[in-house]
Amino acid sequence: MCGIVGYIGKKDSKRILLDGLKELEYRGYDSAGIAVLQGDNFSSFKATGKLINLEEKTKDFVTDKFSIGIGHTRWATHGKPTELNAHPHAGENSYVVHNGIIENYAELKKELLEDGVHFLSQTDTEVIVHQFEKNLKTSISAFEAFKITIEQLHGAYAILLVTKGEKETIFFAKNGSPMLMGIDSDNEKYFASSDTPLIGHCSDINYFEDGDYGYVSPDALVIFSQKNLQKEPVFTKLSTNKLSAQKDGYRFFMEKEIYEQHDVITDTLLGRLSEERVIFEEIESSLFDGINEIKLCACGTSYHSALTATYLFERYSKVKTSIEVASEFRYREPIMNKDTLFVVISQSGETADTLETLKMAKKAGLKTLVICNVDNSSMVRLADACILTRAGVEKGVASTKAFATQVTVFWMMSLYLAELKSSMAKEEIQKQIALIREIPASVRVSDAMHEHIKRLSKRYLHGHGFFFIGRDVFYPLALEGALKLKEISYLHAEGYPSGEMKHGPIALADPELFTIALLPEHKLYEKAKSNVEELSARDATICAISPLEFDKADDLIPINRCKDYMLEFFEMMVVVQILSLEISIRLGNDVDMPRNLAKSVTVE
Ligand code: AGP
Repeated sequence: MCGIVGYIGKKDSKRILLDGLKELEYRGYDSAGIAVLQGDNFSSFKATGKLINLEEKTKDFVTDKFSIGIGHTRWATHGKPTELNAHPHAGENSYVVHNGIIENYAELKKELLEDGVHFLSQTDTEVIVHQFEKNLKTSISAFEAFKITIEQLHGAYAILLVTKGEKETIFFAKNGSPMLMGIDSDNEKYFASSDTPLIGHCSDINYFEDGDYGYVSPDALVIFSQKNLQKEPVFTKLSTNKLSAQKDGYRFFMEKEIYEQHDVITDTLLGRLSEERVIFEEIESSLFDGINEIKLCACGTSYHSALTATYLFERYSKVKTSIEVASEFRYREPIMNKDTLFVVISQSGETADTLETLKMAKKAGLKTLVICNVDNSSMVRLADACILTRAGVEKGVASTKAFATQVTVFWMMSLYLAELKSSMAKEEIQKQIALIREIPASVRVSDAMHEHIKRLSKRYLHGHGFFFIGRDVFYPLALEGALKLKEISYLHAEGYPSGEMKHGPIALADPELFTIALLPEHKLYEKAKSNVEELSARDATICAISPLEFDKADDLIPINRCKDYMLEFFEMMVVVQILSLEISIRLGNDVDMPRNLAKSVTVE
């Protein structure tokens, strides 16, 4: 998830671009850059790290006459966060910025390299500007070359491109990644990934639709639809509150990030699924040579996604898999064998306990892999290999979309290993891949479901505690649901394997004990149901989450009937996330910054 901005007009474009990128830092900030064409002079600046570094580089750069400019703040998906990989990417006479993932960049890059094009970066984006300049040689106009280029791209993108031959034009295209355009009182045009950068400049904005492409100049605004039909912009009034704009109108970043899961998981999958196999370009299959066991190590929510992985790896990859709580692993003098692949999982890539276990594993000579959301973080730099989750910046302290993308990566990884180890028939792998493609639909939040949970949450604001219970992968989900509730409502909650209730916890059963029971249709339903009935018979208050009716529950939060238990997992994940959100809001808590917590625990 990155942020892009653009401007065409007589104002201080450097200031407009840099201020716009500042407003988009919540979308990603491992590197940033701008390119401005004033007259015949292109000026481009790029810097890694926070935007202040780019400000420093541009401090002597003045834009005091008509110009066209584009800018970008990056959240790495392809290629390390370096200056070379930062956008804008340059051709001979053109620059491009891009948010999204070009799925077919490798084949386009191969052809361009054969044509003798020299690439500077590892990114997919750089292909766009070189492909444009290749098409320019055989097109009657720059716009025709741009149109052909867009037709040749597969994947998700929001693109702004400028070229020296068209000194007063910005070309744009949008498909799958957000982009909008605003107009100010001088009829000057502004582009951005979201509306925050335009607040204070424009009063009217046009949200582009998927498939839109076109160009703007001082006197023109030309938009074509996916069907190549010219269309008029549809302007709406721009909100004026920047913070609510960053939250896109949601009450909290956590709420926004729950709703974003559909989009970010789509990014997580991009370029990694063919019909018959899972592809992880960023790792070599040799990483798994000689490996007979996988040991997963993490903290908190990342531990819960890792626990989910243990079921998938042993079930599909047939690889012995174990899991560790990082803070415990550090001090228990563990036995580590070199045929074990040590996998750390971390949203931030900076959690102190997890990082220390990674160092222990490397010191013991084990091969290491990190599943992480932040490229260039300490763990990414230290591990032998890395798979990025592509969740974008997660602002809410209580992790949601990071967890969802971690589990998505693990499900894919279990099939990647299944093919490598020949532990599953190709047809079975293909069936699982088809199911994985349905994850984004499974995490889409329905208004009806959200409203139902919001109303029901008023009954769960007191009591002497919560049990979240589930079996199989729904046990780690129960742990995650309990953690979400604890973190933001400050009510006591425990996650438990359903089968464990009779080994002591059921002594707590009474009407003031709330049990959130995960009852999937496709995994041990009857066994989980009888566990819940044991609690219900002792008058515990039961809230069941299930695709099936359950008459012993005091409340039922229905999910859709699914083809597979893992899709039920993702549907129930959204329910427990929304449930904790709505309880916390009713209790008046700061959902995004709960007391005593930090987004990244970089100390012991
Ligand atoms: C989860 O909601 C919490 N923010 C916390 O448990 C978190 O998952 C844990 O601190 C690990 O963080 P990491 O994924 O960045 O390593």
